[in-house]
Amino acid sequence: MNYRSIKGTKDILPSETPLWQFVEQTIREVFRQFNYKEIRTPVFETTSLFARSIGELTDIVGKEMYTFQDRSGDSITLRPEGTASAIRAYIQNNLGEALPLSKVYYIGPMFRQERPQAGRLRQFHQFGAEAIGSPTAETDVEIIAMTIEIYKRLGITNYSLQINSVGDEECRPKYKEILNAELQKIAGQLSTESQKRIDQNPMRVLDSKNENDQKLTAGMPLITDYLNEECATHFAKVKSLLTAYGIPYTVNGRLVRGLDYYTKTAFEITSTELGSQDALAGGGRYDLLVKELGGKQTPSVGFAAGMERLLMILEKKGFQPPQQRPTVFIAAADDAAREWVLTTTMKLRSQGIASECDLLARSLKSQMKEADRQQAEFSLVVGATELESGKALLKHLSDHSQQNIVLEAIAEFFKH
Ligand code: HAM
Repeated sequence: MNYRSIKGTKDILPSETPLWQFVEQTIREVFRQFNYKEIRTPVFETTSLFARSIGELTDIVGKEMYTFQDRSGDSITLRPEGTASAIRAYIQNNLGEALPLSKVYYIGPMFRQERPQAGRLRQFHQFGAEAIGSPTAETDVEIIAMTIEIYKRLGITNYSLQINSVGDEECRPKYKEILNAELQKIAGQLSTESQKRIDQNPMRVLDSKNENDQKLTAGMPLITDYLNEECATHFAKVKSLLTAYGIPYTVNGRLVRGLDYYTKTAFEITSTELGSQDALAGGGRYDLLVKELGGKQTPSVGFAAGMERLLMILEKKGFQPPQQRPTVFIAAADDAAREWVLTTTMKLRSQGIASECDLLARSLKSQMKEADRQQAEFSLVVGATELESGKALLKHLSDHSQQNIVLEAIAEFFKH
């Protein structure tokens, strides 16, 4: 029997993990500098948590979730995103009691049964953050600025930021009615997908990727013209702060995003370096979600970004992450030295020095080849002669310089 990984999932191989680790470290560093703390939630939750948060009518809940009954008959779902779980954990653990504003971040796998293609997987990875407990535009802009800082830090400059305000529970229903009436007039000409959305979620029709839909809806009223005073003031403040921070943006009055929990600010970062799946990151404000899930009214804002899409850009740019390599490869010149080589390698490791030696009983020549293959910084050849004299020749493999070192003092040598 030949086993293959499941369609839409990927092995991240040892040759690829240095890039992942480097990027993850950079992301964690930025989160730390912005004072966001990591939260780790389970990868599966009760199905209704996601259905309730993301929205029954969204593509994610309607067609993409990995949902199954466990052996006790409970409906379980592999998390398709991180916000719902973070908010569930926030409520369950009373995080709001200790701090008026909880700033949390996560990095981890998410699951959506979408049609796999470049940049779209069924198990993919997101990094994201949530600022739970602040209604201010300053918080929205901190989230956006932090997202952008991550890309900047990694040398990615070819992206664009689109923002919108999707209103709140007061102004949005009124706007939806107006839009719905307009859409009804052309309903028959819209794509089947959009036709289905006219009644339940007319704003998604404006966000349709279908070119004909786009043409048909070109002159339709936009939410940005129907915001109430509170939403309009908030949006104006977000825009002026983005300008003050020197972050370029465009307003896209059609941007609604594929999750239903947003209120006020919604944003997306796209890159032309990606193919049709061009969204690097997305997020926004969700002032009603905590209450919806059983907590107190807690205005919040957050974002999430796709790891694989970010890595695709770095790979395309030929980005070379630092590789994992041993500081020293100790080679045994003869059998008499093998035990010394093994025990010394172990000793160095326990003193924090990355060391390697041969485990395959290979000839000295093959051991030296291995030292090169592993890109060891130094090699040290030890045989009966060296053990007797207590000294051996240490080679710097990159510039071929060499020097004699005292074997007794080998650990001290590498520590300096
Ligand atoms: P989202 O837009 O659904 O938002 O996902 C965020 C990012 O995850 C996307 O921009 C994309 O880079 C990546 N992504 C999504 N689906 C896939 C996939 N199938 N394969 C590869 N990458 C993918 C959210 O998930 C919200 N929770 C964001 C948020 C946080 N809003 C507020 N807080």
